[in-house]
Amino acid sequence: MHPMLTIAIRAARSAGDQILRAMDKVEQLQISHKGKNDYASEVDRQAENEIIHIIHKAYPDHGILAEESGTHVGNSDYVWVIDPLDGTTNFLHGFPQFAVSIGLKHKGIIEVGVVYDPLRDELFTAERGGGAMMNNRRLRVTRQSSLTGSLLGTGFPFKQQQHLDAYLGMFRVLFADSAGIRRAGAAALDLAYVAAGRLDGYWEIGLQEWDMVAGVLLVKEAGGVVTDFSFKDKFLESGNTIAGNPKMHQAMYQAIEPHVTDDLK
Ligand code: IPD
Ligand code: CA
Ligand code: CA
Repeated sequence: MHPMLTIAIRAARSAGDQILRAMDKVEQLQISHKGKNDYASEVDRQAENEIIHIIHKAYPDHGILAEESGTHVGNSDYVWVIDPLDGTTNFLHGFPQFAVSIGLKHKGIIEVGVVYDPLRDELFTAERGGGAMMNNRRLRVTRQSSLTGSLLGTGFPFKQQQHLDAYLGMFRVLFADSAGIRRAGAAALDLAYVAAGRLDGYWEIGLQEWDMVAGVLLVKEAGGVVTDFSFKDKFLESGNTIAGNPKMHQAMYQAIEPHVTDDLK
């Protein structure tokens, strides 16, 4: 195993343990309001500190891009991209769908990804060229080849409501053609579920890098495709993401494309 994957797993498990311990005292947590529909608690910050501490103990010079504390990229070619608690709104409401997400980029290429669901003790891991796993089981995207009968994941553009009409146009066509659409509330897990074959495809507008770096590698290493809404690979920049097995990705892209405004390209 890539030694950096070992460190990412150690950090994700340790942060996940902290999050689980905090679940019983959610009502007492200090919550800050970062922006429209955007919250963070002291648990997010503590979990992030723990992850950064573990990474820097092993790799003191590596850069960090983390949701709560921002960017400390320095001179290193390595950057760890961290979402200490993906699904904060779920967590704060006791809705059991949240995860820790840690990805590592080297010169801009994603090398390692870990998404850890502490409630189910499901550890999703990937290394570039080495495949994707969940708790020692190899992951593979589904073989679903058309929207008919498919199960899709999505996220609502609740922080960027200017895209609501475009989103609803996409939703309408995918809703009509698929067997179901789930909005579970943690993008890193949505991507991990595509990798694991629990979802046939997934799309969302306006993600941040930390929501998706680890999950994108999981999908690709499980045989899936990820692009932005222009069929290109600029999703880390735009945050607009379509993921699925190659056929589902194509089918979703074709359905979504007529609703993509210039701002979403
Ligand atoms: C959010 C979740 C959610 C997605 C949002 C993200 P957070 O992350 O992944 O599913 O729809 O775009 O911001 O704020 O809970 O870490
Ligand atoms: Ca997130
Ligand atoms: Ca978060």
